[in-house]
Amino acid sequence: MGNCNIKNEEAQKEAASRQLEFIEEARILVEKISKNIGRPLISHIETFGCQMNARDSEKLRGILDAAGFKDTENEDEADLVIYNTCTVRDNADQHVYGRLGHLNAVRKKRPDMIIGLCGCMMQEDHIVAKIKKSYPFVKLIFGTHNLYAFPELLVRTLNEDKRVIDIRQETKVFPESLPVKRKHFFKSGVNIMYGCNNFCSYCIVPYVRGREISRTPDEILDEVRRLVADGCVEIMLLGQNVNSYGKTLPEKMSFAELLREVCKIEGLRRLRFMTSHPKDLSDELIEVIAQNPVICHHMHLPVQSGSDIILTKMNRHYDRARYMEIVRKLREAIPDISFTTDIIVGFPGETEEDFEDTLSLVREVGFDSAFTFIYSKRRGTPAAEMENQVPEEIVKERFNRLLKEVKVTAEERCARFTGKVMDVLVEDVNREPGLVTGRIEHNIVVHLPGDASMIGKIVPVRLAECRGFYYFGEPVSD
Ligand code: SAH
Ligand code: SF4
Ligand code: F3S
Repeated sequence: MGNCNIKNEEAQKEAASRQLEFIEEARILVEKISKNIGRPLISHIETFGCQMNARDSEKLRGILDAAGFKDTENEDEADLVIYNTCTVRDNADQHVYGRLGHLNAVRKKRPDMIIGLCGCMMQEDHIVAKIKKSYPFVKLIFGTHNLYAFPELLVRTLNEDKRVIDIRQETKVFPESLPVKRKHFFKSGVNIMYGCNNFCSYCIVPYVRGREISRTPDEILDEVRRLVADGCVEIMLLGQNVNSYGKTLPEKMSFAELLREVCKIEGLRRLRFMTSHPKDLSDELIEVIAQNPVICHHMHLPVQSGSDIILTKMNRHYDRARYMEIVRKLREAIPDISFTTDIIVGFPGETEEDFEDTLSLVREVGFDSAFTFIYSKRRGTPAAEMENQVPEEIVKERFNRLLKEVKVTAEERCARFTGKVMDVLVEDVNREPGLVTGRIEHNIVVHLPGDASMIGKIVPVRLAECRGFYYFGEPVSD
């Protein structure tokens, strides 16, 4: 087994050094083009979807930066535009098509503009077929399994006249040593695993991201150490189901054990993780969170539904009682913990009674906030074939009722810290002049007076006034 690991490491190194050569080749090409046009080449990457995609975009940006591109927020002025797509719900797909329409209009005025697509949507054959047919101006298409090969694909895109399309069905190597350009200097996501094995019956992610694979603890710890040395005070460990971390490793390690190791890294102030699946949440994990002050007292624990019948049809492998048991245990061990969740409304066969079970669960748990989604049929998933798809008007009506319930509960929960002094990690300047915005460890947003020099710092703040889901705070001196 050990041997197979070494081989893997060698494969990673080899793949990385090959891609580094392509970056150098891209850099020479970009330099030449820039000289010709008398200005730097400009790139824009637009991210759709989850934290995984956000992290992937940072990798793409790192590669473009190393190749000599200047990054812009304004896609209309870019020479190279890449959409890193999401396909978890149909509206994510529709959003991309809409934006492509706009880009096509821009491109007509600027024919040299290069447009590329990557990410989860590209792992679906029918979507790639549609893009090829209806969006011929898209020059580069690649998927989730060969993101690391972007330097090579970039060189081909710059060199060749024809379209570059490269979609793989499986991830073979994960070179993580290529350049990365973080969005924030003070915090970063770190992938601890890729893919998903759960096959929740509504979900497309296992089909577009492939099978679950964990990175080795050494690789993860090395990356976190490097990030902390480079100024990160907050790390978010990323995976579709972090609680099943380590199951595919030759030398097994649990997620709780990994957290324990990460907590030992000096200089790390805040540790978060996403996403926890209730079915694999262990008592050991609860203990580790309670024992390590670095781990934030916030648990994102998607419940999806409060009805046992629907949870079974969703293939979630827990029932309402088990979910409530986890919530109770977590609150017992970490009394101030905040809970957030994901909920789907209108799953096939959902009755009024099932839906009311969801409403009552929201009340019973008291979520600090919830992401609520209308069920979206995804081609190829078991739920898409199920009978009794719920009519749109009924789903909409339920969705609005759920939103109201979530709002009431969340406001009640949010207000619980009013008047307390808590540490806020300042993340950005506010649109309103003279204000900055940050978060407490419970993930609640706080606005406070300040300026850009505070970004990345953790400051004590009195949470003076709760305004629904966020606070206005006053800095206090230690
Ligand atoms: N791995 C995470 C979720 C990733 S997808 C987990 O299991 O918790 C993020 C959220 O999108 C899911 O929690 C779910 O609420 C929602 N979602 C996924 N597929 C969906 C679909 N077909 N329709 C509506 N919402 C969906
Ligand atoms: Fe989708 Fe379920 Fe995997 Fe989450 S755990 S990504 S919802 S299949
Ligand atoms: Fe979307 Fe892919 Fe994430 S489908 S939610 S971007 S894993």
